[in-house]
Amino acid sequence: MEQKKKHNGFASGFGFILAAAGSAIGLGNLWSFPYKTSANGGAAFVILYVLCVLIIGVVTMVAELYIGKRAAANPITAYKKANKNLGWIGIFAIIIPLFIICYYSVLGGYTVKYSMNSFSGNAGIMTTFVGNIGEVILYTAIFMILAVIVVMAGIKGGIEKACKVLMPALFFILVALAVYSLCLGEGVSEGLNFYLNPDFSKIGFNEILAAMSQAFFSLSLGMGIMVSYGSYADKKINVGKSISMICIFDTLVALLAGLIIFPAVYHYKAVNADAAINLGGILLMFETLPYVFADMGAIGQIVSFFFFLMVAIAALTSVISLLEVVTQFVIQKFKIARKRAIVFVAIITFAVSIPIGISLGLVLNGNNSMLICGENWLDFFDKVTNTVLMPLGALGACVAIGWFLDKPKTFKQAVNPMQLHRALVEDGLQLGWFGKIFAVMVKYVTPLLILIVEVFGVKELLFTAQGFNLNGLGIVLTAYGLCIVCVIVYFIFFKNSQTGTNQDELKIAEKVEAVEEERKK
Ligand code: PFF
Repeated sequence: MEQKKKHNGFASGFGFILAAAGSAIGLGNLWSFPYKTSANGGAAFVILYVLCVLIIGVVTMVAELYIGKRAAANPITAYKKANKNLGWIGIFAIIIPLFIICYYSVLGGYTVKYSMNSFSGNAGIMTTFVGNIGEVILYTAIFMILAVIVVMAGIKGGIEKACKVLMPALFFILVALAVYSLCLGEGVSEGLNFYLNPDFSKIGFNEILAAMSQAFFSLSLGMGIMVSYGSYADKKINVGKSISMICIFDTLVALLAGLIIFPAVYHYKAVNADAAINLGGILLMFETLPYVFADMGAIGQIVSFFFFLMVAIAALTSVISLLEVVTQFVIQKFKIARKRAIVFVAIITFAVSIPIGISLGLVLNGNNSMLICGENWLDFFDKVTNTVLMPLGALGACVAIGWFLDKPKTFKQAVNPMQLHRALVEDGLQLGWFGKIFAVMVKYVTPLLILIVEVFGVKELLFTAQGFNLNGLGIVLTAYGLCIVCVIVYFIFFKNSQTGTNQDELKIAEKVEAVEEERKK
């Protein structure tokens, strides 16, 4: 009994991998990746994407996971433990997820609605559904409650257990649907051609940027997810192997998603395939695909149900991870029970998700009366977090590990990656043959590449084909303003106070358990 109580993290290494893969695999894989690939040079984009995963993704993920693992604490404490002057980076790792939960849950709600409604037919319902605010709020709430139930049960009893069932289910549905789609016959090769035909002439700087930022989002980097999950991972897990598996799963799922979507769209010519696909993201998933499913006849209802169930599962396991980071911090900093912490976080994010749902519904119905900086609220939140803040979070993780973990005595030591390599091995980061490469990458290459993503992402917001974009400026200023507020909040409230650890959380849980047992008597 005593033995069991000492550990409040993942029970097994594989449980950790499934949970982290659950965070990574989400809407980014199932819809962004396929349409971005088709629009940006097919297989040429895939090659680029894989390179980004290898060069930036893996390195940043190792850095984040290791920061969490060595500290066994929430991101703010974890960054403080990496270097006492860096705790402020951790606050980004909590604020960014808070924002993402708000809009991701609205889309999660859509997927729940579409899977449940599959047997009544989803074709043509998009504008009426998204415009029906009551219904959108209801489904957002259902989606969030599902995520809250899982997070409430803790890491081992909630997240790990849920992911052990949900992730295999997701893989199974994915493979089954891909096989089905690839066996449709006519139109399949046309679809594959549209999706993967390599067009290297399309690859330019913008496509490289697109691949890099897709890799960040898809791997859940630049926020506290991997720091937080890493903090709950068993000390004995093999960091390198775990991360390779997470990245392989994530990329595989993204590739397979396209193999379901494009052959089916081209086989059932219910819609003008090229035009429909080029609409991208939301419309491809919630408008085009339902017509394709409707064309499949009776079996289409089943295919539709499983398809949207799969997307809902993917979104759910991602939101669970986002909720967990914030909840972990609230529990540990404010010393409150998990149940209270998650309810508090859920209420705040749900409240913000309401105007997001309303704004998106209006825009999809052609009504532009509720915009911020020229964008519907969802895109506004998405740009603030993904374009501006996420690269900063990732940069923070790499710089913390690459430059501030070790305490070199001379300048020569400070700039020498092999010195960092030795320091990391001493600190406990065993990466085998990859160790030396990692040291060079995390110190020089990856931060530089991330900086490029940040600078050009911002530039793209500020300058469009029409010239300087005031709306883009609004987005950029909001994001950087938020950074400044976060840092001020950190220095006023968190810098000199205890921000808690997983051990504190364990003690709180034990106290709650004791009180509950007392009450039962
Ligand atoms: N990785 C998820 C996806 O591909 O949809 C989205 C996501 C989840 C991003 C969690 C960030 C995050 F922290």
